[in-house]
Amino acid sequence: MAGLFITFEGIDGSGKSTQARLLADRLRAEGVDALHTREPGGSAGAEEIRRLVLEGDPARWSAETEILLFTAARRDHLERVIDPALAAGRVVVCDRFADSTRMYQGLRAGLRDVVDKLHALMIGREPDLTFIIDMDPVKGHARAKGRNGSEERFEDFGTDLQVRMRAGFLELAAAHPERCVVIDGDRPVETVAHDVTRIALERIG
Ligand code: ADP
Ligand code: TYD
Repeated sequence: MAGLFITFEGIDGSGKSTQARLLADRLRAEGVDALHTREPGGSAGAEEIRRLVLEGDPARWSAETEILLFTAARRDHLERVIDPALAAGRVVVCDRFADSTRMYQGLRAGLRDVVDKLHALMIGREPDLTFIIDMDPVKGHARAKGRNGSEERFEDFGTDLQVRMRAGFLELAAAHPERCVVIDGDRPVETVAHDVTRIALERIG
């Protein structure tokens, strides 16, 4: 029996990590065998690449190099964690996946074609269900900044980028209605989680 692959996407600070964790917990409480993971990262090798891409000077890597790094991390994560879990019939809940590369590298740098070609060559997997957590970019940026971590390379690109990424994610959702569901993230955590869990359980059947 094939499992189900669920991803969370959206701008920084929209609440993806919070909602991905809550969804995995709630699915387990319903007796579903759910695996919670994240990108960039999710496997030992990919977590090492995560540190390379998320820390340091915003100008540290070109967009082209970022595409290669994020895709290398994704390939490792897919081979070692996602594919085996899906093959075992589990539900995989992943915080960000290829749509993030389509937006942050593809849309941001005008390299969407490169991202799509490399994805087709090296990844070739799309989620069954993607929650796009939609959020006002200024509020999202404030929430993300409020976390005060060291992984600020992308947050340091500023709110202008967040505005473009939000519009891009909404366009992507409109282009892929078979898998994407837009969720209003500007509501209390519990209200958002209630909607997300209901939709996921419907899809799991
Ligand atoms: P993301 O993974 O999308 O960057 P997080 O889940 O890490 O977002 O949330 C960013 C910050 O906002 C965290 O401090 C989190 O506690 C807070 N947060 C998440 N969801 C909500 C919400 N619905 N309302 C208010 N604050 C939230
Ligand atoms: P993440 O840890 O999900 O940050 P946040 O919780 O703030 O949303 O991701 C860190 C950053 O990595 C985020 O700014 C988006 C960026 N990113 C890309 O640029 N390309 C990608 O393919 C992925 C997966 C993430």
